[in-house]
Amino acid sequence: MSRIQKILATLVVLSILFFGFIMFRVWGAKPPSTVKLSPLPQGTYDTEIWGQAYPLYYQSYKKNLEMAASPTGYGGNIKQQKAEIQPELYTNFKGNPFAKDYTEDRGHLYSMEDLRESKRLSPASKGACITCKTPYLEQFYKEMGWKYANAPLTELMDKAKHPINCANCHNPENMALRVINPAFIEAMQRRGIDVSKASREEMRSYVCAQCHAEYYFVPNTYQVVFPWDKGLTPQQMYEYYAAKPNGFTQDFFQTDSKVPVLKGQHPDYEEWQNGIHGKMGVSCADCHMPYMRQQGRKYSSHWMTSPLKQINEACGTCHNQVQDKLYEQVKAIQDNVWQLQHTAGLTVAQAHAAIANASTKPGVNQQELEKARELTRKAQWFWDYVAAANSMGFHNQTQELNTLGQSIDLAHQAIDSAKKAAGANSL
Ligand code: HEC
Ligand code: HEC
Ligand code: HEC
Ligand code: HEC
Repeated sequence: MSRIQKILATLVVLSILFFGFIMFRVWGAKPPSTVKLSPLPQGTYDTEIWGQAYPLYYQSYKKNLEMAASPTGYGGNIKQQKAEIQPELYTNFKGNPFAKDYTEDRGHLYSMEDLRESKRLSPASKGACITCKTPYLEQFYKEMGWKYANAPLTELMDKAKHPINCANCHNPENMALRVINPAFIEAMQRRGIDVSKASREEMRSYVCAQCHAEYYFVPNTYQVVFPWDKGLTPQQMYEYYAAKPNGFTQDFFQTDSKVPVLKGQHPDYEEWQNGIHGKMGVSCADCHMPYMRQQGRKYSSHWMTSPLKQINEACGTCHNQVQDKLYEQVKAIQDNVWQLQHTAGLTVAQAHAAIANASTKPGVNQQELEKARELTRKAQWFWDYVAAANSMGFHNQTQELNTLGQSIDLAHQAIDSAKKAAGANSL
């Protein structure tokens, strides 16, 4: 071979390698196009029927029944009380059913079972609780509109025969991604976003956001509302609540301190969208539903659990660090967040105690006591925004560490105020 031929041959080989690499990346990033469509009628809520149509995906979804401790020790999906490691929950939720029963979240296929067995339920529980537990929500909302939220929960639970499944996220006719929770659709509308026009990429997070988000019930009607009108940070949501939206003032009064508490509810979407991955356009599905291969067939994992259980598939597409290093990094983030979360929770509990103590003193300064209550309300909200979310800070470590720092400071201010309210004489 002449020199020219050699150079040409090298160039040809390099181009083949280069284009091969590009095509690999492009195909590697694209959703599987090999799925054979098996259209099902609207209103198909039976997991088995979906399973017969898409066996590979069903098999993967059924892994959501598996139970194990989390690889990092935080989270996991074994049904255990969160208060076991954070006894401060008993104090901070005193006066609310969450003090009775608050377990670690499990896989989607347990949603109806865990709802039925929850000790937080009472005969007076409302239909609103079923919103994020089953695809029958679509039928209830079609038949009753928001009135379903005020119907007796027991009645709806009898009708909802299946837990969260395919129909919560897919249109049965064409498998397009969809959202069915009206509270999410309305909240996005108020922010000027029409979710029916969302791109596939956006839908890969919206399908999760329709449930993994903060909400409250409108007094008397129990309509579910997401508090997003002013924005999604803890501060913006706190300001939203301060305006007493729809007459809503608090979830409960803490029994000892009479603080009107806002109970945080899993703000995973809020946390993520403002974090590094959310900002960089990495969707929930990128990490929680990575592409897998089985006998040459490519599919997106429907085992919606800790991504660390399949860390190579979940993170390896973007991070080429050694797997152990990446794991250690996640663990370090969570250790740091946990340390502050625990401190914040304990300090908030002390604030409740200080207020309770001050309020028994004769001649207590009521104005100062109210100030202590307001500071505790905010401190608890900031703590619970992090504590109620599910990733122990991983989705947004910068924001969560800041939020917990503020919570601790506010709780100390509340304790000072409570002491001042009690008066120097009575200390
Ligand atoms: C919580 C939401 C959610 C649930 C529940 C869910 N899926 Fe999916 N599914 C998705 C997302 C998101 C994608 C797209 C993943 C991607 O782009 O990689 C997807 C992709 C698919 C695909 C590939 C076709 C396509 O459009 O990419 C099939 C087939 C599928 N799912 C079937 C099912 C079946 C069957 C069930 C129930 C056993 C189910 N899914 C449950 C969210 C869900
Ligand atoms: C219809 C509401 C709904 C949708 C949609 C939904 N989730 Fe969930 N998710 C839940 C509920 C409720 C639980 C807790 C179930 C239980 O504890 O019984 C849960 C639990 C989880 C868990 C904990 C399971 C474990 O193994 O630790 C993960 C992770 C999770 N969801 C991720 C996702 C992701 C990612 C998406 C979107 C692809 C999504 N969820 C969509 C309601 C939903
Ligand atoms: C960059 C990857 C990544 C993205 C994007 C991401 N997560 Fe996570 N998520 C994680 C990791 C890592 C954990 C911690 C897992 C552990 O502790 O074992 C986690 C934990 C969770 C958990 C708790 C699981 C448990 O063990 O109880 C839920 C629920 C969850 N994520 C939902 C979501 C939702 C909803 C979105 C989108 C709004 C999202 N995640 C986006 C990586 C991600
Ligand atoms: C689709 C691409 C993508 C995926 C998948 C992804 N990441 Fe990232 N990750 C990024 C980008 C982009 C950044 C920000 C730029 C940077 O620092 O490299 C980032 C940053 C990080 C950081 C540093 C920022 C911080 O919060 O400290 C960690 C740690 C991290 N990712 C862990 C993970 C883990 C663990 C997973 C899997 C569960 C994962 N990532 C999945 C794209 C991704």
